[in-house]
Amino acid sequence: MVRFAQLVFSLLPLASWRESQETDTREGLRTTESHFLASDTVHTNASKSVAIVGAGSAGIAILKTLVDLRRQTNQDWDIILYEQRRNVGGVWLPDPNEPQPPNLPETPLYPRLRTNTPHPTMTYPGFTFRPGTPLFPSHEYVEQYHVDVVLQKDLSSYIHVNHTVHSAGWKGNGTVGKWEIEVHRDAGEAKSLVKRSFDHLIVANGHNHYPRIPKFDGSDEWLSSARLGEAKREIFHSIFYRHPELYANRTVLVVGGGASGRDAVLQVSPVAIKTYHSLKADKEPTPGANVTLVPRISHFTSTSVVFVDGSSLDDVDSVILATGYETLVPFLSRPTSDPTASLGLLDSENTKLNSTTATTLVTNHRYIFPLWEHLFSLSPQYPPTALSFVGLPVLIANCPSDIAQSLVIAQAIADPSTLPSRERMLADLVEQEDRLRDRGFDPYYVGHKMVGGDDDAQAYQNKIVKYLKDSGRLPDDGKDYVEPWRRVARQESFLLRRAWERIESSGDEEKWLEGVVTEDEWADLILRLVEWQKRWEEDHGNEEETQVIEPWDASGFY
Ligand SMILES: Cc1cc2nc3c(=O)[nH]c(=O)nc-3n(C[C@H](O)[C@H](O)[C@H](O)COP(=O)(O)OP(=O)(O)OC[C@H]3O[C@@H](n4cnc5c(N)ncnc54)[C@H](O)[C@@H]3O)c2cc1C
Ligand SMILES: *[C@@H]1O[C@H](CO)[C@@H](O)[C@H](O)[C@H]1NC(C)=O
Ligand SMILES: *[C@@H]1O[C@H](CO)[C@@H](O)[C@H](O)[C@H]1NC(C)=O
Ligand SMILES: *[C@@H]1O[C@H](CO)[C@@H](O)[C@H](O)[C@H]1NC(C)=O
Ligand SMILES: *[C@@H]1O[C@H](CO)[C@@H](O)[C@H](O)[C@H]1NC(C)=O
Ligand SMILES: *[C@@H]1O[C@H](CO)[C@@H](O)[C@H](O)[C@H]1NC(C)=O
Ligand SMILES: *[C@@H]1O[C@H](CO)[C@@H](O)[C@H](O)[C@H]1NC(C)=O
Repeated sequence: MVRFAQLVFSLLPLASWRESQETDTREGLRTTESHFLASDTVHTNASKSVAIVGAGSAGIAILKTLVDLRRQTNQDWDIILYEQRRNVGGVWLPDPNEPQPPNLPETPLYPRLRTNTPHPTMTYPGFTFRPGTPLFPSHEYVEQYHVDVVLQKDLSSYIHVNHTVHSAGWKGNGTVGKWEIEVHRDAGEAKSLVKRSFDHLIVANGHNHYPRIPKFDGSDEWLSSARLGEAKREIFHSIFYRHPELYANRTVLVVGGGASGRDAVLQVSPVAIKTYHSLKADKEPTPGANVTLVPRISHFTSTSVVFVDGSSLDDVDSVILATGYETLVPFLSRPTSDPTASLGLLDSENTKLNSTTATTLVTNHRYIFPLWEHLFSLSPQYPPTALSFVGLPVLIANCPSDIAQSLVIAQAIADPSTLPSRERMLADLVEQEDRLRDRGFDPYYVGHKMVGGDDDAQAYQNKIVKYLKDSGRLPDDGKDYVEPWRRVARQESFLLRRAWERIESSGDEEKWLEGVVTEDEWADLILRLVEWQKRWEEDHGNEEETQVIEPWDASGFY
């Protein structure tokens, strides 16, 4: 049903792409300056070359970390980040066009998107949002944050926007070789095909781009059988969701209890005729949404949506599938024009392979394996530092985690002996998968989700950074990487949201934000707000049920 925009793109005749050696070197972030890009001609003698794919939170984190390390150690590295869109920011950069299904939009971002976590928890350590930013800001602030980081850290000269990495194949063996990368540059009129080779490839392509769309029997029949005078029926994935007003005269069924599904019911239920929310049995209803809960969908008939308990609805007009995303890296599964270069990733949803039997990197659309600590490919085709990933973990505060991961990747690129042997790393991974099974999870189903929520997510970051400290790569300050105030702020996300809503309704935002500039001051604000709200709720009670929902769970495990 979904036709990937990228796929359409890849079918364009290559003849229309001018082969070039990165001749166009103008940079186009939203700035007044233009920069010259690092390119082949500048760094031909570089000791290492590194390509990064994606300029969202994760790509910017690894770029900043590599550039910092290179400056500190005076390394001669050639670093290039390719971003297919017009600017940095990833999911936070709005799509200028309205979605036109089945073509995928550039981002799931919708106009009323606000963060569901307090922004001080969404920062790179030491780099705060601008003074005056509301605690749960609308998406524009998060977009601006990414632009600010790039400008203040002087990163724009490394970033090639409008450059889509189309394919990347490994030319070499398990010890030496290069990535052969083909990049399509598309800046309106100017199109070109760039071919380059790199020692290291770092994938930061995000995980909210390829919708997971469950197939239900009878849905085509249901779609085409609206009675005369009835509204046109529709079923679409939440990646296409934009404007709640469109549902004013409709009855809506939202499917899935992750962040996207909960946001959709909150926005749609005040305007829709009626809103149903289909949830797995163990999911909590969304506080503040006027919905009727229904179980999981079983199938459709020409008249009805039928649920797993046998009940059915025949008044639904719109079905919004907030059913999460698939973990794909299309450019690693596509051949390059060099037939001797090998694919970096086997893309197979129904594979029986596992971390010990796979002879290449594999994605089953939920899990990329075998990877050490969600970071380095253990594929025997190339050395472990050849291919790494930033930002794969889900249910985690991204930016801090992206930096923790980037520290490990940058050190390993500087000195591969930072890492244990491939055998040791594979053994670590198998142990980790076993531990998940012991807790009742299928590692090949949960994939990169931090299933224990923030406790697991923070333990993960602390562990990988401690690994660097223990091996002498970073100074050991004896502290956990995740600061205590971040822990509190994530734990108390919902309490903090209630606090902030109370402040908004009394119009006191400015009073609270006054003089809050540094990271310490934001941390202090968080702690003060937690106390302030707890005291109030002790006196006045909290009408909302105790929340057991993870603050950020895009998939909802539907
Ligand atoms: C609607 C929505 C709301 C969210 N709200 C929150 C929140 O409130 N709090 C929170 O903590 N997290 C939230 N998240 C999680 C969000 O995923 C992270 O905040 C983070 O921004 C993800 O960054 P990323 O760099 O991993 O991925 P992305 O932001 O997806 O960036 C990936 C980048 O890679 C580029 N790219 C991909 N393929 C290629 C290619 N082949 N060639 C070149 N470039 C390529 C893409 O264009 C994109 O710019 C939200 C996510 C979504 C979708
Ligand atoms: C690269 O190294 C060679 C040999 O040492 C030298 O002649 C050449 O000028 C160098 N090129 C650059 C761009 O530094
Ligand atoms: C990999 O290729 C290099 C250079 O061609 C060669 O020297 C080396 O022996 C090869 N290693 C393996 C494990 O095949
Ligand atoms: C990127 O492409 C858009 C058109 O899609 C164009 O407006 C913009 O100027 C381009 N930016 C750069 C830096 O080439
Ligand atoms: C909803 O229906 C009413 C009555 O038919 C109509 O007046 C109104 O314009 C409709 N609203 C939208 C957003 O379609
Ligand atoms: C909730 O929605 C129903 C219609 O489904 C409506 O009758 C009722 O007034 C709504 N309640 C609130 C509090 O909005
Ligand atoms: C992978 O599968 C093989 C064969 O089914 C099995 O022996 C092995 O224990 C599995 N390994 C892991 C890590 O699951």
